[in-house]
Amino acid sequence: MHSMNPSTVTVIVPTYEEFDSLPSLIDAIERVRDESLPKLNVIVVDDNSQDGTEELIGSLQKEWVRLLVRTQDRGLSPAVIAGLQSASGEFCVVMDADGSHPASAITAMIQALQDGADFAVGSRYINGGTTEDGWGFLRWLNSKIATLMARPFTRVLDPMSGFLALRKTTFLEASELNPVGYKIGLELIVKCQCKNVSEVPIHFSTRLLGESKLTLSVQWQYLQHVIRLLRYTRPTLVSFCSFAMVGLSGAVLYLLLLVATTAMITSVPLAIALAVWLAMTWNFIWDRKYAFWNSRQQPIYTQYIGFVLICSVGVLANFFITLALSKSEAIPLAGLIGVSIGSAVGIIFNFLMTRLIVFRK
Ligand code: GDD
Ligand code: MN
Repeated sequence: MHSMNPSTVTVIVPTYEEFDSLPSLIDAIERVRDESLPKLNVIVVDDNSQDGTEELIGSLQKEWVRLLVRTQDRGLSPAVIAGLQSASGEFCVVMDADGSHPASAITAMIQALQDGADFAVGSRYINGGTTEDGWGFLRWLNSKIATLMARPFTRVLDPMSGFLALRKTTFLEASELNPVGYKIGLELIVKCQCKNVSEVPIHFSTRLLGESKLTLSVQWQYLQHVIRLLRYTRPTLVSFCSFAMVGLSGAVLYLLLLVATTAMITSVPLAIALAVWLAMTWNFIWDRKYAFWNSRQQPIYTQYIGFVLICSVGVLANFFITLALSKSEAIPLAGLIGVSIGSAVGIIFNFLMTRLIVFRK
């Protein structure tokens, strides 16, 4: 026998073509409502499936089940955000419609929040949690890799879970939500700065009806999501790594260009200068896109001139070393030594200067 919990709870169920699964899901939620959470309501957020979902919800005649139909920007994460925005409860729960998530765990998830957690997930990987057999090796591997990629952001064992609970006020504190793809739980944990995440063990069942919407493009979106989260949580590190990689590509390009320009132009200083200038411009274009992504508001000319000025130390070192060595050594070797020393001289100096002056934050 459960004791009644008077909290208001809104359960958000994102759906796309889940007509077949909805009835048993609503039944399962209703049991939880009757047994322990009388002030529970449901918002089904449907992305205009046109499969009878609207009629179905209407015919249920349950005043605590509401339908929200979205017609734009189809996607799981934006649907969840829309549901969270219109949720009226003090507590919000998000769960799949296909029966993978046991409604019976809702009570424990709300309890965890009341006991001090600022986020709760239905977890397959915490002690007591299980996953129904029949997940092919590929899906298992996929899930493992995805989970590992979330490691820099949270220690949660099942950060990929789409079964989650949080206070409405926590959601409202989220900064810069950028819902893309499926991993809305991870996005919320990071952007709401949830430190105390409680994992409630669940049995994750395989869906019985309908089909999964997890496609290859959803996985590609996850990769983009991880990069965005990295930029959000570790901007300087991402900036520096991108800068170093662009620098490396510029050095390789420089050597190739040098071989070409010295073969085509008789004046060696001019040939070197041309290669240097082209490689530097290449670096500027990619640094602007990847290393200093968040400072594109200034006019590109101003940024370019600043970039050239600041790179001048390393660039001039490279130019003169390459030129001096070209008299005794083969061009590729001279170029390699020149660009290596030039880069070493320039890299820390350049990075700090471009950061401080050109791409002013
Ligand atoms: N509104 C809306 N719009 N809902 C969607 C959309 C969409 O574009 N795409 C999927 N959904 C709904 C589905 O109808 C279902 O209720 C829920 O989101 C999960 O979709 P599934 O297609 O069943 O996803 P899954 O089983 O592959 O993935 C689930 O498990 C993963 C962990 O293995 C989800 O819970 C993921 O979030 C979770 O990471
Ligand atoms: Mn599913």
